[in-house]
Amino acid sequence: MDAMELLLSRNSVPARQLSDPAPDGEELLEILETGMRAPDHAGLKPWRFLLIRGEARQRLGEVMAQSMARRDENPSKERLESQRQKPLRSPLIVTIYAEITKNHPKAPEVEQIITVGAAAQNIINAAYVKGYGGIMLTGPAAYDPHVKAALGLKDKDQIICFLYLGTPTNEPRKKIRPSAADYVSEWTSDVTKATSNDP
Ligand SMILES: Cc1cc2nc3c(=O)[nH]c(=O)nc-3n(C[C@H](O)[C@H](O)[C@H](O)COP(=O)(O)O)c2cc1C
Repeated sequence: MDAMELLLSRNSVPARQLSDPAPDGEELLEILETGMRAPDHAGLKPWRFLLIRGEARQRLGEVMAQSMARRDENPSKERLESQRQKPLRSPLIVTIYAEITKNHPKAPEVEQIITVGAAAQNIINAAYVKGYGGIMLTGPAAYDPHVKAALGLKDKDQIICFLYLGTPTNEPRKKIRPSAADYVSEWTSDVTKATSNDP
């Protein structure tokens, strides 16, 4: 697939439409390798990839249900059960997170998060090139310190997404995309157009 064709055609795939096989072994590493091409201020390499598959997905579902139980007052059994089921929708979840370096003199936290977001985008694109589908999901659990602790992360670290990966079971949905031209403006050298508080 031509690179532009790839970039102009990828769609996220709903997690429940991702089934076996998921990328594995050398192929999975090759896909994750594209994350190493993310722009990275000060070379901090903040990206981390925590693989969750097989029965570990049930454990993640339990952790998510516990997170909901802490957040919500009296969540219904159905809502708790739906949290438990969420990770079971796809065969592989890559928890993509940023291991944050606090108070870095050059690369503030937001830049470290952008780096790992860029890595995640490369990875979802690479998975698509290889014939897989994926979707980045978060939800309140991704920001819950208890969930981070259960996954072995430190509170300062940031979960960028749970990247659900697998083989699409359905045809790609036809999603109408906006035109980039609608979001472009140009800042000119004409100083008379600049707003100023000067008298
Ligand atoms: C960091 C991040 C977190 C996201 N979390 C959710 C989420 O929790 N639930 C959801 O429905 N979509 C979430 N999305 C949006 C989906 O990943 C996806 O972009 C959306 O379904 C649109 O599909 P598209 O990528 O084909 O445009 C998230 C996107 C990003 C970048």
